[in-house]
Amino acid sequence: MAERDPGLNEEKDRGISWTDLMAIDSRPAPASLTEESYEYRGSDPLPVTRYISSEFAQLERERMWPHVWQFAAREEDIPDAGDYTVFENAGRSWLVTRQEDGSVRALHNVCLHRGRKLRTEDGNADTFTCPFHGFSWNSDGSFRTMPCSWDFKHLSQEKLQLPEAEVAHWGGYIFLREEKGGPSLEEFLAPLPEHFKRWRHEECTTVIWVAKEVQANWKVTAEAFMEAWHTVVTHPQLLPFTGDSNAAYWTWGDNINVNLVPFGIVSPHLGNTGKPEQWIVDEFVKFNGRSADNYENAGDPFAVQVPEGKTAREALGDAMRKGYTEQTGYDHDDATDAELLDGLVYNVFPNFSPWGGFMPNVVYRWRPGKTPDTCLMEVRILARVKKGEPIPRSVPMHLLGPDELWTAAEELGVLGSVFEQDMANLPFVQEGLHASKTGEVQLGDYQEIRIRQFHQTLDKYISGELGAER
Ligand code: FES
Ligand SMILES: [Fe+2]
Repeated sequence: MAERDPGLNEEKDRGISWTDLMAIDSRPAPASLTEESYEYRGSDPLPVTRYISSEFAQLERERMWPHVWQFAAREEDIPDAGDYTVFENAGRSWLVTRQEDGSVRALHNVCLHRGRKLRTEDGNADTFTCPFHGFSWNSDGSFRTMPCSWDFKHLSQEKLQLPEAEVAHWGGYIFLREEKGGPSLEEFLAPLPEHFKRWRHEECTTVIWVAKEVQANWKVTAEAFMEAWHTVVTHPQLLPFTGDSNAAYWTWGDNINVNLVPFGIVSPHLGNTGKPEQWIVDEFVKFNGRSADNYENAGDPFAVQVPEGKTAREALGDAMRKGYTEQTGYDHDDATDAELLDGLVYNVFPNFSPWGGFMPNVVYRWRPGKTPDTCLMEVRILARVKKGEPIPRSVPMHLLGPDELWTAAEELGVLGSVFEQDMANLPFVQEGLHASKTGEVQLGDYQEIRIRQFHQTLDKYISGELGAER
């Protein structure tokens, strides 16, 4: 594979680079935001079959999903002993269950008698009794009792133990892996935990959780959130305050990548607008849903004034720094403008995307549907719990109906219309892939490097280079 320099900033329309922006941040930026990690990974097209074929979806089910750490739940989804959540993905179903000692087990949610799912909804229980004939398990997966036990003398206690997946925890997230073996969660996530040390998602709770079945493959949908450069056409209302083509795209190893998108600067696509810095702030406050609450809590949402000699970015940074400190009780004095404003959009292979930084954080998860043409997309918003206060239980998931728009989820505020803009493309991407004459899709070498890395990792599982021996 030939080495190739993506030529950062070689074109005028790129604007100030991410690293130059970090150098003029009002606080020293952490190494995670200044140490570039771009690697050219080739320019070959991707075959469309991987998005549309049932055979490929089956390969993913057999060779990839059982071997990766999957984000299954947040700690605050199941805070109390006996709490369980039904987590389903790629043809499997688990009861992710809080134990008496505070640990978590992920039990296969299938009755060992004739296969009924033991539970179809979340709840709290110390036993799981099958609604069909009454085989019953303890919440640790050990077998309890059954009616007509004289008829099942051939089934030992051991045989009746519910199978379980490995469980591991990081940052308030609970992960499971179906098949034992392979890297520890810590190894799998590296270097993400190091980056998130400052942002401490374990101090946060789920305050918004919206989901909808999307009429597109799970990878098509995930990839629509792996690059910011569709902003110019898909989200033009964001351009006055979004450095879309200034954004950085970095990858680490097989599993981790990030898109660092600066806010509070004008998109280079708009050229010289001749507008004052205050205009950037005003547009930001109107359309950047993620931070509007903090403005309201800091006072009049339209009261952020850019002082003489300061940039919009600095003024917004100052307002956020003050707002978050008051709101959370944690001192945010050393938080950089980037950590307070920007889209620090991380992805963990294969389907988990937590945003970094100090503001209420977006977390995405995508799960394949029953066919390659659908998936479930979930958006959570995590907010920091006030210092010293207990972490409240998460809000329940708000599942939108097939005909409901994302704007119907009023809790998302202005973000709902941004998601709706994204979703308006996706069914037509899926249809277009089915209709494709070339049978290929193309990727940009820089701005779509995360998608490239994702497929290279997926290929490693499909080929058997990663995952268990076969
Ligand atoms: S299927 Fe569960 S008890 Fe019969
Ligand atoms: Fe988008």
